[in-house]
Amino acid sequence: MEPKEENNTVRSVLVNAGHGYNVKIGSGLINDIGNMVNDVLNADRLAVFIDSEVDRLYGDRLEGNLASAGFQTCRFVFPAGEASKNIKTVVDFIDFMSENHITRKDAVVAAGGGVAGDMGGFAAAIYLRGIKFIQVPTTLLSAVDSSVGGKTGVDTSAGKNLTGAFWQPSLVVCDTDLLKTNSKDLILDGTAEIIKTAAISDKKLFNYIKRTEISENLAEIIEQCVKIKGRVVEADEKEAGLRKILNFGHTMGHAIEMYSDFGISHGKAVAIGMLIVTKAFEFHGLTAYGVFNELNDLISAKGFQTETKAPVNELCRLAMSDKKTSGDNIDLVYLKEIGEAGIYSVKLKDLYNFISC
Ligand code: GLY
Repeated sequence: MEPKEENNTVRSVLVNAGHGYNVKIGSGLINDIGNMVNDVLNADRLAVFIDSEVDRLYGDRLEGNLASAGFQTCRFVFPAGEASKNIKTVVDFIDFMSENHITRKDAVVAAGGGVAGDMGGFAAAIYLRGIKFIQVPTTLLSAVDSSVGGKTGVDTSAGKNLTGAFWQPSLVVCDTDLLKTNSKDLILDGTAEIIKTAAISDKKLFNYIKRTEISENLAEIIEQCVKIKGRVVEADEKEAGLRKILNFGHTMGHAIEMYSDFGISHGKAVAIGMLIVTKAFEFHGLTAYGVFNELNDLISAKGFQTETKAPVNELCRLAMSDKKTSGDNIDLVYLKEIGEAGIYSVKLKDLYNFISC
């Protein structure tokens, strides 16, 4: 992926959640990250939490820059991949922080994709009853979505992200150069979240994505997505209501991931999940006529498959085990039109009939 647009501009988006923090977006930011962290923290020591793949590519540069800004640093490297996203990794990291004398004044720097950000943030949330942390997203998905908003946690044997905390970072540093090494699947993961973000709340962005190559306008698109997500999180940090719209496509998407035993990547699954739900809601008259085709065209144009072989009854069964059920109901996010989302509660017993229209 070769971003062409990047220059030395640093974009900054303020998110007023937690203590309030900036998301800095731009090319080459890792070369100045120590100063950026110095501007927002009064820490002596930083514990870098990083996956093995990102460590191989950027670990020395990242830690070196933090050290050159005057911080004492230590680095905890865990095996890259979702299999590491469990409480044991977090406990190991917590022990590592104790051994390295990380105090309440100090902070975690979580570098990587969603796995590193979620776990590093969760460790920061519970170590010494909470210390500060910095997010350094290195995947398109974490840049546009998971590094912002303070959802942290781990998977359990019962499912994804079932244990965690809302714990906002003190700063997010998104160096767009680091996204250049993302695989095609990682780019698709991020692209699905970008389409989701535009579809639920910004028709202008949706149309912009239609006519533009995302990789050539990375900083611009990341900034727009972060602004949208920031507004949602500011209004509903703990997902009591509005924040649920960020889960558009994810209920069926998670079911597709589970059905494929995680052989289908998150983005590809969410893309199909958005289409399944939009088709059903358009059939029921809650989504404006034509929205399904518009979404289908964009998803297909960005390189996604638009159908799954997974039977709908199986997907519904898996969706019902998802944490988004509440009592006898499941909240489904749908599009009223492109750029406007709603939440509709369906009885679990009616889910299959509703979706399989
Ligand atoms: N990724 C959805 C959220 O942060 O709420």
